[in-house]
Amino acid sequence: MRITICESSFDLSVQAARFIAELVKTNPTATLCLASGHTPLGAFERLVEMADAGLVDFSRCHFIGLDEWVGIPSSAEGSCRYFLDNYFFKKLNIPEAQLHFFDGMATDPEAECRKMDDVIIYLGGLDLMLVGIGLNGHIALNEPGTPWNLHSHVGDLDEMTVTVGQKYFSGKTQLTKGITLGLQYLREAKLPLLMASGEAKAPVIRQALEGEVTELFPASIFQTLEQGVVMLDKAAAGRLGA
Ligand code: PGA
Repeated sequence: MRITICESSFDLSVQAARFIAELVKTNPTATLCLASGHTPLGAFERLVEMADAGLVDFSRCHFIGLDEWVGIPSSAEGSCRYFLDNYFFKKLNIPEAQLHFFDGMATDPEAECRKMDDVIIYLGGLDLMLVGIGLNGHIALNEPGTPWNLHSHVGDLDEMTVTVGQKYFSGKTQLTKGITLGLQYLREAKLPLLMASGEAKAPVIRQALEGEVTELFPASIFQTLEQGVVMLDKAAAGRLGA
């Protein structure tokens, strides 16, 4: 695991964007899993600027959805697909055929998981898996206690995720289950990348990177990932080594 600490959240966005752009320059047909959420937003904005300036080209990449709320359609605010559509795919005109997301409305979520696993196998695995960290240590919708050896799966949401998840919606929204890539994909990804910014994330970053490695704290899996990269701003790194 390699840790990079950036001066500010803006600097974190710039450095993460450069890092992802380099990966795509080296592998223009890369399969990328990008997280939604507030943390990577600035990096996506920088990447769109870089693409507009001709500095990186995503037109041959495939994109894998990290997770979705079960019962929330892709067209709804708060869904992973909606977020990435608005901040990334539409701005870059990525063809639909290159976007592979869970359908939170699937009548058979287990079949939806197998479909996703098949797509990832077909594409030869993930070249990049970008994730954030939840205030309960979750990674994607792998909640505390989720086994680390799962591929795509459906799971119950932690109470904290249900509460914090409301920030992605304009009105109160019932959230109960998530459909998500499992942590086995982080182990298999060529590049697992964790981003975190802000003081609120400092305690969970400390626990993830310096605390006990346990399935009860999903983000602690990064301590076991030799190829893992962690990019933080100073505020999120504030409690490391304390
Ligand atoms: P955030 O979400 O980037 O919006 O803080 C992170 C997460 O819950 O995984």
